[in-house]
Amino acid sequence: MSVTQREAAGLFGTQAVPAGTPHVVGRVEDVPPGEGRAFVVDGVQVAVFRLRDGSLHATQAACPHAGGPLADGQTDLTVLVCPLHLYTFRWTDGTSPGGAAPLRVYPVHEESGQLVVTV
Ligand code: FES
Repeated sequence: MSVTQREAAGLFGTQAVPAGTPHVVGRVEDVPPGEGRAFVVDGVQVAVFRLRDGSLHATQAACPHAGGPLADGQTDLTVLVCPLHLYTFRWTDGTSPGGAAPLRVYPVHEESGQLVVTV
């Protein structure tokens, strides 16, 4: 079980953590190489991906086209493919070469084996 900074803040009676704060969502091994997993981060649904080269990416969990489950999408080192209608989205900035609305991307990194997403 992970404890976000906002949860920790609540436990200790401090004020709410502002937006743009890093949150631990789980361990790196919770996301198998080449796959994605959905998490809720401070009330926001995000999809976290670990690519086969070990790089991490995080996006909004629902596709901007029609709400497809992006954590179930196929990946390569440059794009994410939504499983519903196969629009692609670039990891670099969330834009879609196929013309779908851009995807929101979030900073994510590994810290002592934990996945940290900034929302
Ligand atoms: S819902 Fe993702 S491409 Fe249509």
